[in-house]
Amino acid sequence: MSRLILALDVYERRKAVEIARKTAEYLWAIKVNWPLIMVSGLGIIRELRGATGLPVIADLKLADIPNTNRLIARKVFEAGADYVIVHGFTGRDSVEAVMGLGDTIIVVEMSHPGAEEFIQPATDGLIRMANELEPFGVVAPATRPGRISYIRSKLKPGIRILTPGVGAQGGKAGEALKAGADYVIVGRSIYESDDPGESAAGIHWGIHKVLDGLR
Ligand code: XMP
Repeated sequence: MSRLILALDVYERRKAVEIARKTAEYLWAIKVNWPLIMVSGLGIIRELRGATGLPVIADLKLADIPNTNRLIARKVFEAGADYVIVHGFTGRDSVEAVMGLGDTIIVVEMSHPGAEEFIQPATDGLIRMANELEPFGVVAPATRPGRISYIRSKLKPGIRILTPGVGAQGGKAGEALKAGADYVIVGRSIYESDDPGESAAGIHWGIHKVLDGLR
């Protein structure tokens, strides 16, 4: 099984489906974010599922009061999303509102430099909350493998770590996996390449090699 998640951050429906088809055999799942959903509409979720048969993760990073989180997540799950990503910093009630509707992934730390300002100091509390709520997984930064190891050491076994920041943001898939990540999220390095299928294949087989070495 693949451990690679494609972050499909393009605007247009046709381009998204074309890249998804070319890369599908190397992916575990496809992650959609606001750029694609805003321009192509929520229907893109079913279309991607239909074109590839893969799970779709809706990375909306929901960060609102429980009722609004629930109103949004309901429509996204109804549209066919398998997982929804929520921010944890808004607190347990806002996260539980989404978890009550379907499989949820909680952001406990982010991959960009600014994450050190506010999110990183809150990570310990966010991990504690994740351990209590037991979501499908958490998001942790591939740009800081040391933080993945730290998060893995505190996180309940069975809660997966999904890690963005590989490629365009400078993180390395192998280091993230060695640090304890379960799935690697890659966007621009695949969808901006001349041959997305070949790029996805390269990353996928690279991941396999690293995992074989860890066994
Ligand atoms: P790139 O093009 O940088 O795309 O490979 C990365 C994708 O992942 C999202 N992203 C994050 N999501 N926490 C998250 O929940 C993070 O720290 C984080 N960093 C990147 C980004 O929006 C894009 O879709």
